[in-house]
Amino acid sequence: MVALATEHVIDVHHWNDSLFSFRTTRDPGFRFDSGQFVMIGLEVDGRPLMRAYSIASANYEEHLEFFSIKVPNGPLTSRLQHLRPGDPLIVSRKPTGTLVLNDLKPGKHLYLLGTGTGLAPFLSLVRDPETYERFDKIVVAHGVRNISDLAYADFLQHELLQHEYLGELAREKLIYYPTVTREAFRNQGRITDAIVDGAMSKAIGLPPLDPATDRVMLCGSPAMLDDTCALLDSRGFAISPRTREPGDYVIERAFVEK
Ligand code: A2P
Repeated sequence: MVALATEHVIDVHHWNDSLFSFRTTRDPGFRFDSGQFVMIGLEVDGRPLMRAYSIASANYEEHLEFFSIKVPNGPLTSRLQHLRPGDPLIVSRKPTGTLVLNDLKPGKHLYLLGTGTGLAPFLSLVRDPETYERFDKIVVAHGVRNISDLAYADFLQHELLQHEYLGELAREKLIYYPTVTREAFRNQGRITDAIVDGAMSKAIGLPPLDPATDRVMLCGSPAMLDDTCALLDSRGFAISPRTREPGDYVIERAFVEK
């Protein structure tokens, strides 16, 4: 039985009709590695109803932040979307997950490829100074259906670049590549297609993905993971932790059945 703690909601931000973020208090004893997830939930009919959520905040921040979709009849998200400041949130005390820097071999460029709420773990990683210490360039590719789904675009394009401590590193190393599939946008199409047809490397000014220099983290739907893994495998990338040692890439499902 995993120990549970109760935190309290600090604020909630609704990006559009189907996406929102919220921040909660954080027990100072709660530790996690950037990129990990934790079980969170609400008490429903006297019992905790819990789902896995990537932690979007940095591991040194005083609050916890989560990025969620709103599933109209989802057992948890139909309730979570009504959270208000001060409301309780149950958080398990045991974070876990595979999207961690230590599972990657050293490399030059780090690609963080996420679709939908699969962006969440990368928001923690781009706020971690260690990410910048380990890589020369960090590419955050966010694939979504509509422009309004590009949550955190302002954070990744502006706010982080002005950050008191990370700003200089982010300005030098961070590259944001948003891409939209269902309406006109400057980058259009799926991340996988943008890798194959070279649109992404052209837009960001880096060479095509190569296991000699590049490391990748993936977070998205099962279909996105399948297709992107097949693509990386075909280019000679080795997944971790299948080998129980650092690899060229790591994956995690974006948890959406909520
Ligand atoms: P598309 O609009 O072509 O389905 P979702 O909200 O369904 O998780 O989708 C988020 C984004 O991920 C959408 O832009 C969607 O594109 C894209 N996507 C869906 N399936 C895949 C896949 N197999 N590989 C890459 N991107 C995908």
